[in-house]
Amino acid sequence: MKLVIANDHAAVDLKLEVKAYLEELGHEVVDIGAMDKTSCHYPEIGARAGRMVAAGEADGGVLMCGTGVGISIAANKIHGVRAVVCSEPVTARLAKEHNHANIVAFGARIVGIEMAKAILDAWLNAECLEGRHQLRADMLDAL
Ligand code: RB5
Repeated sequence: MKLVIANDHAAVDLKLEVKAYLEELGHEVVDIGAMDKTSCHYPEIGARAGRMVAAGEADGGVLMCGTGVGISIAANKIHGVRAVVCSEPVTARLAKEHNHANIVAFGARIVGIEMAKAILDAWLNAECLEGRHQLRADMLDAL
């Protein structure tokens, strides 16, 4: 998959570990920063990643900030984005299966790299379920 990854200053270290892991898994990773720990604004970065996913420039997105909350809220402002913030893998799997989450987010102040890997594995390996779940995902996109 082609994945956009994005982060603010609070998640630079975790982002580098996540990027290495995704590349190790064979994914094409587009890192849109932030590249250093200079204070920056997660709404700008989350929206930029969201626009890339909504436009089909990436198959999905992985977002990180201190909590994963701000950057996922920003991405969810973009029509067509269904971003979910996760701190464990069950939510990540169900968010893909039931909610067709096209972006997963987590917090560098909340999860370590091993939990981040488990979240990514769950989200990447899950399938978007059809039927009533497709209907509801379409309803989300129609809002
Ligand atoms: C930055 O200090 C912090 O507010 C940000 O990374 C994030 O946690 C916001 O949701």
